Amino acid sequence: MERKLNMVVLAIFATVALLQSSVTSTTYEVGDSLGWTIPGGNSAAYSTWAANKNFTVGDVLGFSFTTGAHDVTQVTKEAYDACNGTNPISMTTTGPANITLETAGEHHFICTFSGHCNAGQKLSINVTVASSPAPQPSSPSPAASTPVPSPAFAPEPSSTTPSPTSSPSPAPSRAPVSYTVGDSAGWNILVGGASAYAAWASDKTFAVGDVLVFNFINGSHDVAELTKENYESCNTNTTISHTTNPPVRINLTTAGEHFFACTFPGHCVAGQKLAINVTGESTATPPSTGGAPSPSGTTTPSSPSPTNVASPPENSGAGSLGVAGLSATFLSIALALWY
Ligand SMILES: *[C@@H]1O[C@H](CO)[C@@H](O)[C@H](O)[C@H]1NC(C)=O
Ligand SMILES: *[C@@H]1O[C@H](CO)[C@@H](O)[C@H](O)[C@H]1NC(C)=O
Ligand SMILES: *[C@@H]1O[C@H](CO)[C@@H](O)[C@H](O)[C@H]1NC(C)=O
Ligand SMILES: *[C@@H]1O[C@H](CO)[C@@H](O)[C@H](O)[C@H]1NC(C)=O
Ligand SMILES: *[C@@H]1O[C@H](CO)[C@@H](O)[C@H](O)[C@H]1NC(C)=O
Ligand SMILES: *[C@@H]1O[C@H](CO)[C@@H](O)[C@H](O)[C@H]1NC(C)=O
Ligand SMILES: *[C@@H]1O[C@H](CO)[C@@H](O)[C@H](O)[C@H]1NC(C)=O
Ligand SMILES: *[C@@H]1O[C@H](CO)[C@@H](O)[C@H](O)[C@H]1NC(C)=O
Repeated sequence: MERKLNMVVLAIFATVALLQSSVTSTTYEVGDSLGWTIPGGNSAAYSTWAANKNFTVGDVLGFSFTTGAHDVTQVTKEAYDACNGTNPISMTTTGPANITLETAGEHHFICTFSGHCNAGQKLSINVTVASSPAPQPSSPSPAASTPVPSPAFAPEPSSTTPSPTSSPSPAPSRAPVSYTVGDSAGWNILVGGASAYAAWASDKTFAVGDVLVFNFINGSHDVAELTKENYESCNTNTTISHTTNPPVRINLTTAGEHFFACTFPGHCVAGQKLAINVTGESTATPPSTGGAPSPSGTTTPSSPSPTNVASPPENSGAGSLGVAGLSATFLSIALALWY
């Protein structure tokens, strides 16, 4: 009897929830600018992404991926933990895909392509029945819920926020900055192609003495510096420098334009390329490497070795700071561009 009553109450509750959600449902772009892919350099990217969001029945998850390169497979918790896609609850192989959250409770999604789930392409969320008609879009207060360290939405330290692109001319007097390329998205093929890295770079000022940190999964990408011509045509046969072991740290030792791309077949063409302008030395604490400005003032990118390449691992504190601080900027710019 009591059980029956409970069922009735539940049914009513669910109906009300469905009615409400039809008015207030939110569509979430999974991973935001990262899309649905192997998160390079940050295997916790999707738990970070989900950590400050409240999902309710009726909400929609948008999975952005290239058909044939990934899939979205809903699995049990056990299968999720084991990255085992052999007995899925549901599977979507065509991207991009919108998946409506029909039921409350935990939902677990993985990509069943070999190695992808183990490398972090997995998302686990808690879905609740809608209780408030107020829409809850993606402008969370950072302090709201912080179950795990949440680098993607940490407040931005002002030291890493130089003035926007419009005035790159005067040499900034500031300490060297370590920039994590792509922030939490890492060095990857991103949804949005080359515009993703252009957007990432667009609000940053790069100065001699700064460092670029490229995070990616060992063996799945690399970093090459190219001439402008080769960058534009994505010809990676000839490189100025070439580094394979992540994290790749590149010291910006000369002013002028610098061009980077991944030499893996198809990656550059798909947008894994970054062009930046480097201004004169950051003066506060000149780097020990002594990035002496060239006599002509700016160095052309075709000169043999405009940067020094440092391959050793050990992501410095500054690097992590870069991840924490710049992600919000990157994500919001990317969002602004794509919506
Ligand atoms: C994956 O799950 C299936 C059942 O769902 C099980 O038979 C199989 O042994 C599992 N594979 C691994 C590698 O654990
Ligand atoms: C997913 O939903 C969004 C927002 O409603 C819509 O703009 C987009 O076209 C949908 N995508 C697909 C593949 O249905
Ligand atoms: C969902 O919520 C339950 C209870 O609060 C918790 O134990 C579980 O870890 C959560 N799962 C996810 C994926 O957040
Ligand atoms: C999610 O729910 C918690 C607890 O109900 C609330 O404190 C928090 O503000 C909500 N977060 C968002 C982004 O709506
Ligand atoms: C990356 O892989 C190469 C070759 O497999 C190996 O020599 C190197 O130690 C790896 N680097 C890291 C950082 O794991
Ligand atoms: C790069 O090298 C490959 C193989 O050596 C060759 O087929 C291709 O034409 C080269 N590309 C350019 C732009 O030189
Ligand atoms: C660098 O600056 C010059 C002059 O402002 C501009 O023409 C060029 O497009 C810039 N290059 C990049 C990669 O931003
Ligand atoms: C890059 O700069 C750091 C300090 O900023 C220095 O320790 C390192 O040796 C430099 N690496 C190269 C290859 O110049």
